[in-house]
Amino acid sequence: MVAVEEFVKKLVDLQYQMNCSRAYWELHPHTLQLRLSPNLPDQICRNKKNILKYISEEGNCEKLVSYLTTRTIQVIYHLNQFINLSIFDKAALHQEYSLFINQLYNLLSQSNQVTKLKDELHRILSEHSSRLRSYLQQIQDREIIPDDPQQLIVCSQYSPEFQLQMLGIDLTELWEPVLDIGCGTSGNLVTYLRNQGFQAYGIDRNIEKADSYLKEADWLELTDILQYGRSGWGTIISHMAFTNHFIHHHMRIDGVPEKYAKAYMSFLLSLRKGGSFFYAPGLPFIEDLLSEQQYEVKRKSIKTHTLYSTQIIKLH
Ligand SMILES: C[S@@+](CC[C@H](N)C(=O)[O-])C[C@H]1O[C@@H](n2cnc3c(N)ncnc32)[C@H](O)[C@@H]1O
Repeated sequence: MVAVEEFVKKLVDLQYQMNCSRAYWELHPHTLQLRLSPNLPDQICRNKKNILKYISEEGNCEKLVSYLTTRTIQVIYHLNQFINLSIFDKAALHQEYSLFINQLYNLLSQSNQVTKLKDELHRILSEHSSRLRSYLQQIQDREIIPDDPQQLIVCSQYSPEFQLQMLGIDLTELWEPVLDIGCGTSGNLVTYLRNQGFQAYGIDRNIEKADSYLKEADWLELTDILQYGRSGWGTIISHMAFTNHFIHHHMRIDGVPEKYAKAYMSFLLSLRKGGSFFYAPGLPFIEDLLSEQQYEVKRKSIKTHTLYSTQIIKLH
């Protein structure tokens, strides 16, 4: 059954790949209409029996539903990094995929004609798209999805060299252990630092392959990892991640800047004496409030922009 599971996941992945390669506005809540990847109906028809058997075995249906839910959450976050799905939003999405897989299962068990099966697959995908449209228009963060479907919100991962340069980090003076908050799905900088022999760790809400040094976690719920090691973190880094979102919440009418401020202070507290928190973009509205006896603030301007990156050194 492992082979069937891999096969089913591959079909799902192809489906996501195909839909995500389309223009951004085709995935907007007002216009979303998912398409079947060209070979999918034939592949499903040819492997109908195995797929049915796989879904009916204990635990597999739930596994598949969770896989689809996670993949869709990743796509939503990728399209708009400022969306934060609540546990209720996630549960509703999970419910939608339970319904969808149930429909698919019934369809596969009832239909014997290939052409009919293909038509029905299109029909259930179209119904699923319509429910997803309603879902996206009802989620807690729906207001921050731009009305203009052409408006793009960029969320990228950057090379380690670029990040170090932007943050003004000199590796010969880097204090360990290092924690990268919002390190990106593949934790580029963490891997780079580890390859250079540094003790580095990363967290992100979306990690491609979690292991002992890359963990999936929300930066507003980091109590465990911040207590790592008695002496505290030598360096905390967050490039185009935590502080970008802090600014977003600072400016947003229904934002939660107080939660970000609390997390920001807990990051500073978790540094060891002399340790640094490097981040970009900078946060003038909170940096100016830090005690001068306790913290030294160093700013590095970024080319011609009004933006800057910051290094906060914990003095005591
Ligand atoms: C623009 S990317 C930057 C990634 C990396 N720091 C870099 O420069 O390549 C922002 C990252 O923040 C992560 N992120 C957004 N909200 C988060 C949250 N609440 N908790 C943890 N990570 C989050 C995203 O998953 C994304 O990987």
